[in-house]
Amino acid sequence: MKSYNDLIEQTFEFPTLEFKVENNNLLFNNVPLMDIIKQYGTPLKLTYLPKITEHIEHARLLFKNAMKRYNYKGTYTYCYCTKSSHFRFVLEEALKNKIHLETSSAFDIPLIRELYKDEKIDKSTFIICNGYKRPLYTQYIGELLNEGFNVVPVLDNLKEIEAYQDVTAETVNLGIRIATDEEPNFAFYTSRLGIRYSDINELYRSKIQNSGKFKLKMLHFFINTGIKDSAYYWSELSRFMYKYCELRKICPDLDSIDIGGGMPIQTSFQFTYDYQAMVDQIVESIQWICNKNNVPVPHIFTEFGSYTVGESGAVIYKVIDQKLQNDKELWYMIDGSFITQLPDSWGLGQKYIMLAVNNWDNPYQKVNLGGLTCDSHDFYNTEAHSADLYLPIFEQDTEDQYIGFFHTGAYQESLGGYGGIQHCLIPAPQHVIVDRDSEGKLTTRLFAAEQDSDVMLKILGYTNPTAPNTREIEAAKAAEQEQEEQQPVEELEKQEN
Ligand SMILES: Cc1ncc(COP(=O)(O)O)c(C=O)c1O
Repeated sequence: MKSYNDLIEQTFEFPTLEFKVENNNLLFNNVPLMDIIKQYGTPLKLTYLPKITEHIEHARLLFKNAMKRYNYKGTYTYCYCTKSSHFRFVLEEALKNKIHLETSSAFDIPLIRELYKDEKIDKSTFIICNGYKRPLYTQYIGELLNEGFNVVPVLDNLKEIEAYQDVTAETVNLGIRIATDEEPNFAFYTSRLGIRYSDINELYRSKIQNSGKFKLKMLHFFINTGIKDSAYYWSELSRFMYKYCELRKICPDLDSIDIGGGMPIQTSFQFTYDYQAMVDQIVESIQWICNKNNVPVPHIFTEFGSYTVGESGAVIYKVIDQKLQNDKELWYMIDGSFITQLPDSWGLGQKYIMLAVNNWDNPYQKVNLGGLTCDSHDFYNTEAHSADLYLPIFEQDTEDQYIGFFHTGAYQESLGGYGGIQHCLIPAPQHVIVDRDSEGKLTTRLFAAEQDSDVMLKILGYTNPTAPNTREIEAAKAAEQEQEEQQPVEELEKQEN
């Protein structure tokens, strides 16, 4: 019988730059996953930090190449959309590349302040503030503006501008988000986000043009379904650019566009996407429309979220049981949950690259993967390229089987409510960060241990919210003991002196 290795090699072009197999075990970006599992156990989320920098550099190169090819006179600015993953380790890695940031809600701003305090950003870093804003968010934005941060509030509705009337900064650079039309098969015709096309000129004339304080610098658009080579995408981009040109003729301050996020990532080995061709065509289209309208080309901003962080993430599970529930439906039960830990797989039917971590020389069989919650939808049993899912056959009494989901780094924690109450109180898995030192050697560290019951009991009102949890108590005890052990030595030293 053919092995799992044969199956993968026959189905895909495998190995790839990112995935290969050594001694029947999988390597992800040359990280031997079995070593990580041996050290930390499962379930386990993993972030491979160098991937973040790799993608930022790649996107910059794509735009550099395209701008050179078309002799484009504007600049390109890379922003990271924080909502894709707010973790400090993600932002710190991204900011090593001197990128800029995009925010979505009020609580992003204290996060920005922390980064500023730690000198990870400075006042020249663009902070593009998107989202429908409640008063706390606009208040925080106003405070940043008053302190001289390089903030661009992107107006999402006609009233938002009023919240910045009392800002004391001499100039407030504004953006306007244009409400795009949704894809034809969507439930609504026009996006609820942003300002409708027909209201924009009037907003500019009545509230910005003669205000003395406000400058309209940027037009923003975001296509929900991502940057795709489809008639829909190109027609929305053109419509947006024609609006830009129309507005640019009456607003000389306008010099930038933000084309949002939506750069896709690899979710299957059969994914083919010509990144350079897409970026070339975007840049060419923007330039062509501007030339046709005798308008200078704009500086281009992007705010890639998934593209920045998605491919850095993986989740590793152990198959803890095999259940044959009828003659042909075999379940591999995992030590985690799809609903809580990979919510896009449950809520959106999102597929990821899924591979066995070990036993690649074993024969394979069709399986269903089952999560630990009692919800009948907590399963994963198809792949992007196939209606079936195959994994190695293994002997439960003598072998362990581990599996990995890859490119899971964006949105899963914020959607799953990391650190909070989870379905059936399934704990959030431990999170391990993998990096490389200056010599390229792998380093690993535990960012967070598996969630413990104390946290959930506090949230649920069973225990005092200010009481220390088991881990804190243990840490305090250990510290006390260490102090006790050290005391006699210190006393001895004192006596000697
Ligand atoms: C305004 C805005 N910008 C950027 C993004 C990031 O999109 P992506 O993660 O697809 O790059 C989003 C995602 O929802 C968004 O709403």
